[in-house]
Amino acid sequence: MADVSTKYMGIPLKNPLIVGACSLTSNMDAIRKIEEKGAGALVIKSLFEEQVAYQRYAHDEDLELYDNWHAEMTTIFPKAEHAGPEEHLMWTQRAKESVSIPVIASLNAMNTQTWADWAVKLAETGVDGLELNFFALPDDLEADGQALENQQIEAVKAVKKAVKIPVSVKLSPMYTSPVSFMKKLEAAGVDGLVLFNRFFHPAINIDTQVSSYPFNLTSSADHNLPLRFVSMLHGKIKPSLCASNGIHTSKEAVEMLLAGADVFQVVSTLYLNKIGQINTILDGITQWMDSKGYASLDDFKGTLSEAKNPAASTYKRAQYVRMLLRSNDYVSRPSLI
Ligand SMILES: Cc1cc2nc3c(=O)[nH]c(=O)nc-3n(C[C@H](O)[C@H](O)[C@H](O)COP(=O)(O)O)c2cc1C
Repeated sequence: MADVSTKYMGIPLKNPLIVGACSLTSNMDAIRKIEEKGAGALVIKSLFEEQVAYQRYAHDEDLELYDNWHAEMTTIFPKAEHAGPEEHLMWTQRAKESVSIPVIASLNAMNTQTWADWAVKLAETGVDGLELNFFALPDDLEADGQALENQQIEAVKAVKKAVKIPVSVKLSPMYTSPVSFMKKLEAAGVDGLVLFNRFFHPAINIDTQVSSYPFNLTSSADHNLPLRFVSMLHGKIKPSLCASNGIHTSKEAVEMLLAGADVFQVVSTLYLNKIGQINTILDGITQWMDSKGYASLDDFKGTLSEAKNPAASTYKRAQYVRMLLRSNDYVSRPSLI
């Protein structure tokens, strides 16, 4: 049978499937099942700076303000119990001790010092790696993009200086030039890139005229954006590439590997199809490899990346132009007009 073992940021994994940060990874029964169903590694749900701040101010006069913060956090991830930071550290250590697969902690902070301080505390729990969750939505009309990027690079440098374990960044695609920003992350010493973080977006109910913040899982259509970036980056950047978003079946997983991902993360598919889906995806990958005669992941990883197909690149502007010109044909469909 095909060998699906691999490495992520230097960490040996028995296969490339990582369960991404979510509330499943903050539950003991769920993490045991994640291991039993064969995952290569798992990421603990993020520790948020708001949790740290909430605890710090919990007994202050400002309690009301932080109540709102807390309410917002539970709306963003409604099923997640937002314990205080000390409980989070204890849980992370317990999780690490309870499973034999690699465990990665996740941190979402705002200030450089908080990033570094809590990175150290998370590393002390014994985790194998740290994922920096760069989920931020700049809403200051005066804030300059370059300054925001510099802040994030400073945070990465501070964390890399503070801890010895490998560090990945889970980022959004919303930079002026995401690939050049990733190059800067590489220079700052990042060991892995998780492409991409998921934004939860607001919605408006037009009957009640009330806005809300619904909790949406992804669909497999969401995998095309990270697929493009993985393909563009494979072979051109040192950090390991971890694909994330919309990987629901072995089909999307194999596509990501062909494009050049070293590993991939799954979350929504486990909520939709239960944790047993891990096993289904892994079986699908090995069956596909057997059917194509591939003995290991290296036999086909990145064979459809841009670097390996510079002439026939699917990822360039020419394809965009060709596709939109071809769309003129749709106008001639009798049923359309
Ligand atoms: C219930 C839930 C909780 C999540 N919590 C976190 C989190 O704490 N930190 C984080 O970086 N991402 C979190 N995410 C985002 C996922 O890790 C992942 O990036 C996203 O769901 C896209 O992957 P998918 O298409 O496999 O779902 C959460 C997602 C869900 C559905």
